[in-house]
Amino acid sequence: MRIRLTLVLVACAVVASLALPGNAQKKGRTRPLTTSQMMAGLIKPQLTILKEGLEAGPKDDDAWKSIATSAALLNESAYLMMDDGRCPDKVWSDGCVMLEKATVEILKQVDAKNAPAALAGVEGVTASCKHCHTEHKYKKQ
Ligand code: HEC
Repeated sequence: MRIRLTLVLVACAVVASLALPGNAQKKGRTRPLTTSQMMAGLIKPQLTILKEGLEAGPKDDDAWKSIATSAALLNESAYLMMDDGRCPDKVWSDGCVMLEKATVEILKQVDAKNAPAALAGVEGVTASCKHCHTEHKYKKQ
């Protein structure tokens, strides 16, 4: 009896932990890139390049080009995060929509070479990070 109850409790705990948002979407269904790798290797570095480039005030076309590349890669990341079955829920997809919109706005300001307006747009990007991380940033068990 005891063993059976323990098994039922363990089964419940497994089901609950699968449903827990903090556990979600560490990887897509089929492709090797983990969410952690995408964050650490693509998203965070591109946000740093974008923010520091705008704060420094872009001096020439190369500087603007680097900023545009980072904003476009962050924009593309919003699609990557929705791809390969990685998205678990509406908090996640809303975060991706926020990131997509904020980066499109930044790219418009970059086209107009308006650094202060583009920098203001970066707040929309960091808001998207926070929106998703509130629910989904990996919580150690
Ligand atoms: C749609 C959801 C979502 C959005 C948007 C998002 N993240 Fe994340 N992020 C995650 C998840 C989930 C993890 C935890 C991954 C794991 O550890 O398995 C994570 C982890 C991280 C980590 C830790 C990576 C590591 O070393 O393991 C960093 C850094 C990070 N995110 C930066 C960012 C930044 C910067 C942004 C905004 C530009 C952002 N994230 C936007 C979901 C998101």
